[in-house]
Amino acid sequence: MHCGAPGVRMMGKQGLSPDMKRKLLVTSALPYANGSIHLGHLVEYIQTDIWVRFQKMQGHECHYVCADDTHGTPIMLRAEKEGIPPEELIARVWLEHFDDFSAFHVNFDHYGSTNSEETRQFACSIYGKLKAANLIESKTIEQYYDPVKEMFLPDRFIKGECPKCGAKDQYGDNCEVCGAAYTPSELRNPYSAVSGAKPELRSSEHYFFRLSDARCQQFLKEWTTKGTLQPEASNKMQEWLKGELSDWDISRDAPYFGFEIPDAPGKYFYVWLDAPVGYMGSFMKLCGERGIDFDEFWKKGSTAELYHFIGKDILYFHALFWPAMLEHAGFRTPTKLFAHGFLTVNGEKMSKSRGTFITARSYVDHVRNTEYLRYYYASKLNGTMEDIDLNLEDFVAKVNSDLIGKYVNIASRCAGFITKRFDGMLCAEIPSTIEQIIEDGRLRLPRLKYDLQNPRRTGLLEEFATWAQTISEFYEDRKYSAAISNIMRLADRANVYVNDWAPWEMAKDPAKEKDLHWVCSYSLNLFRMLTIYLKPVLPKLAGEAERFLNIPPLVWADAKTLLGAHRINEYTHLMARLDPKNVEAMVEANRESLKPVEHSPARHAESQVHHQPIFDTISIEDFSKIDLRIAKIANAEHVEGAEKLLKLTLDIGTGTRTVFAGIKSAYAPEELVGRHTVMVANLAPRKMKFGVSEGMVLAAGDGKDLFILSPDEGAAAGMKVK
Ligand code: MSP
Ligand code: ZN
Repeated sequence: MHCGAPGVRMMGKQGLSPDMKRKLLVTSALPYANGSIHLGHLVEYIQTDIWVRFQKMQGHECHYVCADDTHGTPIMLRAEKEGIPPEELIARVWLEHFDDFSAFHVNFDHYGSTNSEETRQFACSIYGKLKAANLIESKTIEQYYDPVKEMFLPDRFIKGECPKCGAKDQYGDNCEVCGAAYTPSELRNPYSAVSGAKPELRSSEHYFFRLSDARCQQFLKEWTTKGTLQPEASNKMQEWLKGELSDWDISRDAPYFGFEIPDAPGKYFYVWLDAPVGYMGSFMKLCGERGIDFDEFWKKGSTAELYHFIGKDILYFHALFWPAMLEHAGFRTPTKLFAHGFLTVNGEKMSKSRGTFITARSYVDHVRNTEYLRYYYASKLNGTMEDIDLNLEDFVAKVNSDLIGKYVNIASRCAGFITKRFDGMLCAEIPSTIEQIIEDGRLRLPRLKYDLQNPRRTGLLEEFATWAQTISEFYEDRKYSAAISNIMRLADRANVYVNDWAPWEMAKDPAKEKDLHWVCSYSLNLFRMLTIYLKPVLPKLAGEAERFLNIPPLVWADAKTLLGAHRINEYTHLMARLDPKNVEAMVEANRESLKPVEHSPARHAESQVHHQPIFDTISIEDFSKIDLRIAKIANAEHVEGAEKLLKLTLDIGTGTRTVFAGIKSAYAPEELVGRHTVMVANLAPRKMKFGVSEGMVLAAGDGKDLFILSPDEGAAAGMKVK
């Protein structure tokens, strides 16, 4: 059992003494401006926001900045596809992201964009300093070039056959089928995912950050082992640092959406060069708005603390490239990196077909209350790089049992009596500070034994107050799950107290009026103490509790004070139960259509669009050898024993043909009968297991995303297609 932590004292009497007040700058990774925020992202932003709110409640000077990560090829191409300038795309996405974060109470002090003048200036000056330190080198390299689109192709935009297993349509860096890693030049039959063209190797001059330089190696070996990283992350970095680091290619050729490199026309900074610089750019904007001294946080030797919350997938950039850039450009380096794991839903990777790739927006639309998710994530996070699981059933159960059944329940069972019987006034017998009961975190008197005969002899408030220190350490160490489980244990104790004294029973006996007043007032003080501890996680709910208790915003030091003679407001219900139906509806809304049979007219197969290479040119004579005809589907039926085939009877005016078509996964026979389509009428008949197939119908795609062709209204069976 925890007892007597030196908690209450170290918080100081009124706020913090100047020597205890820390200066902190905190960031979350900058989300890409080409996608929506989803529940995976929110693991990071909610986690950071809880930490920042906790630091602010401690009375520290803490700034939280973030921004959209706006540069790079994918964003450029997406804007092009939408027919708008990239600036318009990123402005629109910025608003979406900002709204999503606000809905989840992620409260940035500044949310910027990497496409800002501040970021451009820092990126250029850092580059200039690295160059002056002889850490930038230019080299000519060979790279795949798309001759149709006239651009160099990033690895992700080159596809082809895996050199190991031969799987088709694999990306240029690794095979999703066999897991092999390779370089794009090893792909067989490569093609550009942008235009479908066959890429050619071309050479071009690139700029490199010379990480292989002894100064960088030496610096990084020290930096990654001096407590800046979690042990697991530090170990990983040591593996990477074992061999010699390769130089880092930091330039890209036009066309590119990004910052042009000074004195290098047509060359742009690679998006990952300016992305972390966005932390500085966004903070600079905040400094401008609030009169904060930028240098105090970023100059070499700064005593301010700098923390980056990141996912484990971007550790490499933050633990190697970024500190090396800062160090050699004369800035301070991060105090610590806090890396977290990935979100799984129901124990599996988020998946569009299962409906578990859930966007922030759809959560808001269906579940509404975003504090449920904040609470659930907090109850799972433990400060390590382990993945965390959102189990949807457990989510509903935990939120309802903890938040409504335990926390809110205390207030809802006691508040009414104070309003109705005592004119809203809490009991004056309760002292106004906990110091009258405890001192230096130790009880002034021997701890009271919980006494079932006397509601004034419980020792509960003292016990609650002494937990302030331990819970604050859990938050500081990002062990939110430990904080939550202990807070809920306290909530259980408060509920036992309410149950033991049962105000609803006491209220029936006029002789127990005074005890009733005490028990309800005391319980509301327990509720208030829990509100302090939960506030970093549940800021909105805490705000409503503050309004109900009629008190100014709670800070951590308030765990030393109590509410004695004080008037509260009438209680209105603080939180509704989470209905599992809403969670189901959310999953349904995110599920990518799995019902092609019922949905055939409106099916979309955007995800299916593999830009396959265009075949070798043929002559018109070659083409005219194919006799394409309009066919009316006179009949369609299942074929016994065939997994993929439907048997079609096609009317082509002059007679009928039997065709076995592999379209069973996408169509039910009854929706085909009577339709017109296009068939190859002169294909050599083919003997199959189930009979002879006399031709072929034309269709796009494969599997479930398969679409047979239809002519426009008016085309009749037998017409030639040319
Ligand atoms: N733009 C880069 C970061 C640049 S920071 C200078 C990026 N963007 S991202 O949108 O892909 O991811 C933003 C953050 O969200 C990253 O820290 C990433 O790890 C985190 N997450 C994205 N998907 C996630 C899960 N499914 N689970 C947990 N975190 C995830 O990376
Ligand atoms: Zn493979």
